[in-house]
Amino acid sequence: MSAGVDAVRIIEAKRDGRELDDDEIDWVVDGFTRGVVAPEQMSALAMAIYFRGMTEREISRWTSAMVRSGSRLDLATVTRGDTVVPTVDKHSTGGVGDAITLVLTPLLATFDVAVPQLSGRGLGHTGGTLDKLESIPGWRADLDTAAMRETLGRTGAVICAAGADLAPADRALYALRDVTGTVASIPMIAASIMSKKIAEGTSALVLDVKYGSGAFLPDPADARELARVMVGIGTAAGVRTRALITANHTPLGRAVGNALEVAECLEILAGGGPGDMIDLTCELAREALAAVGIVDAVPRARLSDGRAMDAYRAMITAQGGDPAAPLPRAAHVEELRAPASGRLRWDALGVGRASWLSGAGRTRPGEAVDPAAGVLLRCVEGEQVRAGDVVATVHAGDERRLPGAVATLAAALEVGPAVTGRGPAGAVLERLAD
Ligand code: URA
Repeated sequence: MSAGVDAVRIIEAKRDGRELDDDEIDWVVDGFTRGVVAPEQMSALAMAIYFRGMTEREISRWTSAMVRSGSRLDLATVTRGDTVVPTVDKHSTGGVGDAITLVLTPLLATFDVAVPQLSGRGLGHTGGTLDKLESIPGWRADLDTAAMRETLGRTGAVICAAGADLAPADRALYALRDVTGTVASIPMIAASIMSKKIAEGTSALVLDVKYGSGAFLPDPADARELARVMVGIGTAAGVRTRALITANHTPLGRAVGNALEVAECLEILAGGGPGDMIDLTCELAREALAAVGIVDAVPRARLSDGRAMDAYRAMITAQGGDPAAPLPRAAHVEELRAPASGRLRWDALGVGRASWLSGAGRTRPGEAVDPAAGVLLRCVEGEQVRAGDVVATVHAGDERRLPGAVATLAAALEVGPAVTGRGPAGAVLERLAD
């Protein structure tokens, strides 16, 4: 039987709702990595999985097959000075205005842990951590494993691009899912995220699983299920995994866009910044530290006393960045005014799209982003505004992008008499621990 026929049989099996066995999963993931299973076959299988789902056994086998498609790092512990410390990583399923990693990573590094953050770039309306950091003059995302270990030991924190050999099956599959409408599948999201974290070899992991219009899975019940599956996969693989399920119906913080979000993070590291970002950062920090047995931590104090800022500067400098250099500013800025008086609501997805249209995001992998583009909210959800008040500004390097971005932002805005009652972005709906 030829390999092509095998792939067809597996696609048909999933299409018809049959559970795939371990050999089939191993074969198809390995075949796809080696180019034996064609992209169109893997796309068809992804669509079948999207509709038919996977059992927990299938998800866990699929995850291990993706881990085995590449090399594994052993980052369970790192030596900082004379001390061996555990590693802890954080992953967000993606949301609008979510720059928490930029603050959380150095904040955690002020404790006796090391934080290896292998991050990605943005695609679509949610931004990518690496794109945000690349707006800092000189900062480089690409470190080889030796440089990553050395930097982790020295500063306790690294945010860098995942190497091409880390879960390569996921990298290739994600690219297909992205262009075939099959991203929003709980089994495939869970396997995608967890395969990278298991391959990275972190000892503990805290997951920020988002729901609301800005998230991949808007329904809180889906976010809860995703969190449950990921905690199960991580725990079974020996990674102490915890999850917070958090709101992203409205943007987190006030800034959406690369350099704009970095500037907001600098405010937080300097002891100020938006309350929703600070609260969620501290919740995630406490959860991450508890996962490695540090239970009496007061992360908020390290934001206000400058220790997290010192760790941030060390982390940025170690990767070639100049933390004191001015961030890029957009040549063109347009204001959006409230169309009426009342309380305001922002739809996270609409704000994310407006930022993307202004040039902050990309439509294809590899495309350049405008580091200065994005949206800055002057007023956030629940605030009272008067007709004509400036509620946001849209920033762009290319003036032609402004009309579309501003119109999209205007459509994401609602002003009415009712109190919204939706609560702040980042509010924790539930926590899950292994
Ligand atoms: N982030 C990932 O790494 N993978 C997904 O499938 C979705 C979000």
